[in-house]
Amino acid sequence: MAKSFPNMKTMVSRKTRTFVAVTLLALFCSSLICVSAQRKEKSTQTKQEVKPGTADQQPRRRADALLAQMTLDEKLGQLNQRFMLFQTEESLNDGIRKGEIGSLLFVTDPAVINRFQKVAVTESRLKIPLIFGFDVIHGFHTIFPVPIGMAASWDPKMVEGAQMVAAREARAVGINWTFAPMVDIARDPRWGRIVEGAGEDPYLGAAMSRAQVLGFQGDRIGSPEHLLACVKHFAGYGAAEGGRDYDAANISDAQLWNVYLPPFKAAVDAGVGSVMSAYMDLNDVPATGNRWLLRDVLRKEWKFRGFVVSDANAVSDLKTHGYARDGQDAAVKALTAGVNMEMSFSATVYLKNLANAVKQNQVSIKEIDDMVRPLLETKIKLGLFENPFVDEARVKTTFDNPAHREAAKTAAARSAVLLKNQNNLLPLSKTAYKKIAVIGPLADSRQNTLGSWSLAMDVNETSTILAGLKTKLGTGTEIEFAPGVQMDRFSNPSIFDMTLKEKHPPTWTEVKAADEFKTAVDLAKDSDLALMVLGENQDMSGENASRSTIDLPGRQLELLKAVTATGKPVVLVLLNGRPLDITWAAQNVPSILEAWYPGSAGGNAIADLLFGDAVPGGKLPFTWIKNAGQSPFYYSHNLTQNPGEQEKRYWNEKAVPLYPFGYGLSYTTFAFSNLKVSQPEIRIGETVEVTVDVKNTGTRAGDEVVQLYIHQQAGGASRPIRELKGFERVALAAGETKTVRFKLGPDELRYWNAAAKDWVQEAETFDLWVGNDSTASLHSTFRVAQ
Ligand code: NOJ
Repeated sequence: MAKSFPNMKTMVSRKTRTFVAVTLLALFCSSLICVSAQRKEKSTQTKQEVKPGTADQQPRRRADALLAQMTLDEKLGQLNQRFMLFQTEESLNDGIRKGEIGSLLFVTDPAVINRFQKVAVTESRLKIPLIFGFDVIHGFHTIFPVPIGMAASWDPKMVEGAQMVAAREARAVGINWTFAPMVDIARDPRWGRIVEGAGEDPYLGAAMSRAQVLGFQGDRIGSPEHLLACVKHFAGYGAAEGGRDYDAANISDAQLWNVYLPPFKAAVDAGVGSVMSAYMDLNDVPATGNRWLLRDVLRKEWKFRGFVVSDANAVSDLKTHGYARDGQDAAVKALTAGVNMEMSFSATVYLKNLANAVKQNQVSIKEIDDMVRPLLETKIKLGLFENPFVDEARVKTTFDNPAHREAAKTAAARSAVLLKNQNNLLPLSKTAYKKIAVIGPLADSRQNTLGSWSLAMDVNETSTILAGLKTKLGTGTEIEFAPGVQMDRFSNPSIFDMTLKEKHPPTWTEVKAADEFKTAVDLAKDSDLALMVLGENQDMSGENASRSTIDLPGRQLELLKAVTATGKPVVLVLLNGRPLDITWAAQNVPSILEAWYPGSAGGNAIADLLFGDAVPGGKLPFTWIKNAGQSPFYYSHNLTQNPGEQEKRYWNEKAVPLYPFGYGLSYTTFAFSNLKVSQPEIRIGETVEVTVDVKNTGTRAGDEVVQLYIHQQAGGASRPIRELKGFERVALAAGETKTVRFKLGPDELRYWNAAAKDWVQEAETFDLWVGNDSTASLHSTFRVAQ
């Protein structure tokens, strides 16, 4: 049964609570033949436009009628979202009763949700229901692979389905709103939150963004068993300097429009109902006080009609940034910039200051109304006025739906990426190994199989890799486990550790550690195969989990070397959310499978993959660098005056990644042929069709992700060496050939030009490549004429 999160009052001392509260407060806290600026009509039409005379006007009318009855304080109450952290139900109820709270987050117990809602709809003057928000990021009760893993599936339909399940489960407890999808482009893997997004590429990122919004929201806001989605963190958070979480981002206009904003635009076009403003400074203006972002881009340019919520405490943090003079200044700056709702622990800067700001003519009532209206409209669209309560009796049946676990298993299998498979060691034979040694600190850790933002699940329902193997092989094979090493965030514990349902603090003494290490190596010597499960604990990646190195934490590499030295065949399974320095493994370990944090059914899915009941088909959503010193590193960089010596950018090592963007192996092989472009030349605004045949040249069925990359040869700006502009994951039986079609039109061929300060499509020659990663070699060209 879901529990209210967090129920920590009873778990931690007052001193610890104070420390954690303070910490959380601080943290969450051409040859230019033609430059034809083309406003893309299509892309500025969103699903949310209020069209006169349509049903869309009804929520607006109802919201206006309500607004007309509200006092200023009641209006400000609607703009106030509070955490259920370190507060009593009574104190929150008091605020709800007075109409001072419009939303709560982090309540996951349906009974508690119903109790709060009852106070709102029966005891507050205007009976406006609360909207309950939660971080439903990759599952709720059933945990799916972390978002970077799901992006590695290159399967938007699957991702949409996964978020539909997550929405259904969260909705079942009374949650109406998820703070997802997180669509920040991340090109520096030192940044811990790379695990929460879709990686480095705007095209893949936009596809995943769209899929998630549709999965969460369904066909409209208020669709039964769905949630309101909230695309975050607007915008540029992934470019935090040095990969240090929360640090400032300095991003050129061209990079913003061409790289960082497209996944947000995709979410808006898909009808996302809310947006979360980011924490950090964007080009010296904090995102939460950034009028250009929140008004000019989001509302004017993109016609967004939903509402913006700040990240936790980000409004009061405008003062911390040195951008606002005091609380009132912070409130005025955020509100006038376009933040509708303030998410806060206790600062409630809006509630405390905006009435005064109105009195002092710093903000008008009209400005306040404009901020409240979309919130009311959303509550109306969600049906909260008609159906404020949740049926507690339906929670269990929803959680127990076997289809949810099956979907999580499929997602984990489709997300895994096979990085190396020397001599086809994988898939393993189910009968060839009498004894298998399962080694590593993550092999039997349920919490670490789930990944960050797994908060409301039952950890006991997690299948670890050890458990998955045992289930698969039954009693015919002896399976023995040894963790070998322990690891920890030694100098800077995670603020999220208090949310972990299962903890593995390193408790071994030096003698015990030496013993355990030896036990693991001896076990490998005594077995026919060593399956090593290494990577990072879940709290080593995610929010507030940046690192200056990307090595395997603790003594894991030492253990891997010692086990490999036994001469037994070794398979390495990785659980992690960022590229790790596995250079040694890539040279010395025969098979490596990237499993990410695979979720509730992860162990079963990985066992299927290891023993050939599923075939890996995932591809890397980021460039896998060798070490942190190479960061940032992404495939779509510009050409330079010395492209032939790209590999020599460093004198001490080759400036090449370990694995390229889009890379991933299979148990079968594929060949590409017959690349055709429908016309050698099109005009600006027209579309060219690209077709290619992909053949499964092996002896077993498998999936290939067909990827299309383009390069504009010249123009009004240097364009990236390659840009992904199409992909499709295709299932092929042994020997089967399929023809895959892509369309390249204005959407794919335009770019934002810094000099023109606009989108341009230029009459130029384009290269195109098709293949199965960003180094694809099958090449053609076409020309765009004026
Ligand atoms: C802070 C995080 O940055 C954001 O992603 C999350 O949604 C909020 N806290 C609420 O948990």
